[in-house]
Amino acid sequence: MTRVLMVCLGNICRSPLAEGILKSKVNSNKVTVESAGTAGYHIGKSPDPRSIATAAKYNIDITDQRARQFTVDDFDKFDHIFAMDKENYKNITALARNTSDREKVSLMLDILNTPRNKEVPDPYYGGDQGFEHVYQLLDKATDLVVEKVIPQLD
Ligand code: 4NP
Repeated sequence: MTRVLMVCLGNICRSPLAEGILKSKVNSNKVTVESAGTAGYHIGKSPDPRSIATAAKYNIDITDQRARQFTVDDFDKFDHIFAMDKENYKNITALARNTSDREKVSLMLDILNTPRNKEVPDPYYGGDQGFEHVYQLLDKATDLVVEKVIPQLD
C-alpha cells in the first residue's frame, strides 16, 4: 500500500480537490489518499462548494470529505506528503521529527517539469476561475504522481 497525503491551509479548497483527483486515478486497494490542512479553522467542514462544483464538473465526488488538521502522526501514516504552497511546506516540515519525516514532504508542483518552487495558488478569496485553474494544475501533477511516485508493479 502506498499512502499519499495532500496538504493545504484550510483543507477545504485545494487539498480536497487533490485528494479527489488522485483517488480517481488509482486503485484504492493499492493506494490510500487523504488530505489535511495546516490550519484548524475549518475542522469537520465539507469542502468549499466551489471545489465540490469543480470536481463534479469532471465527475469526481468529493462531498464525503471532511476537513482535518495535519498532525505529527501523519508522518507515520503516510509515505508521501504533498504541500500545495511554500507556506504549507514550511509549516509541515517545521513539525518533522527527523530527516525521514522531512524527506516525505515535497511541494506538489515540483513534480512537474516546470521551474521549481511553483505553488498551487490559494483560490479561497478569488472567483470560480481560480478553482478551475487549481483543478488543471492538480490534474497534471497527479498524472505525474501516478507515473513517478506510485509503484506500477504488483
Ligand atoms: P485551502 O484554501 O487552503 O485551499 O483550503 C483556504 C481555505 C480557507 C482559508 C484560506 C485558504 N481561510 O483563511 O479560512
